[in-house]
Amino acid sequence: MHSRVILAAFLGAALTAAPSMFSQQTSAPDATAAPGAAQAHEHHWPKPTNLKVLPKDTTPEQLHKIMDGIAGSLGVHCSFCHVQNAQTHHMDFASDAKPDKHIARIMMRMTGTINQQYMTQVNDPDATPEDKHVTCGTCHRGHQMPEHFVPPPEHHGPPMGNMPKPGL
Ligand code: HEC
Ligand code: HEC
Repeated sequence: MHSRVILAAFLGAALTAAPSMFSQQTSAPDATAAPGAAQAHEHHWPKPTNLKVLPKDTTPEQLHKIMDGIAGSLGVHCSFCHVQNAQTHHMDFASDAKPDKHIARIMMRMTGTINQQYMTQVNDPDATPEDKHVTCGTCHRGHQMPEHFVPPPEHHGPPMGNMPKPGL
């Protein structure tokens, strides 16, 4: 998997994952984000130093969009995956101390593979550009852990033609 392809998939994914977050971006810091994130919004983000999935030359602006998209898709703050420095109280985004950051890297690779190896084979004329790729939000839907889905019990009622009239 080429990291450049992953970047392209993620920039698309991030934009479709959390459009409302992007509209806020230029004005106020994101109110739903952790204090460290507010800081990151206000100040220029430093160049990333510890990227293992995204291309090393991902710009701070691209990273910003991707991280906002990921946090919004899971309904979590930045601190769900990133640690805060105990002394300075600044976020240490490069640190790999949190296990969820590790899981997120696996999920990023997985999502990139789904999009590049499988979704590209689907030629569905009904699909809009947003339909054509899976994002973190496709499964997570704003939850840190995807919700369990139990299909409703099989319907054994009368065929549609014999359905009771509305109001009965
Ligand atoms: C679900 C986990 C998760 C959340 C939530 C998350 N990140 Fe990240 N973040 C990652 C992962 C994984 C990487 C490393 C990506 C890689 O290895 O290519 C990363 C990398 C970064 C980096 C680059 C650090 C460096 O120097 O290498 C910054 C900056 C960053 N995130 C900021 C944020 C901000 C700000 C937020 C909140 C808006 C946020 N992240 C939310 C998982 C997360
Ligand atoms: C195809 C569905 C799917 C997609 C797409 C997906 N995830 Fe997940 N994710 C899961 C499932 C299922 C789990 C639970 C797996 C487990 O814990 O063993 C999970 C668990 C996680 C966890 C651990 C949560 C916790 O509370 O421990 C993180 C973090 C995570 N995903 C991040 C991401 C990120 C970031 C993306 C997008 C890059 C993403 N996921 C895309 C299905 C998905």
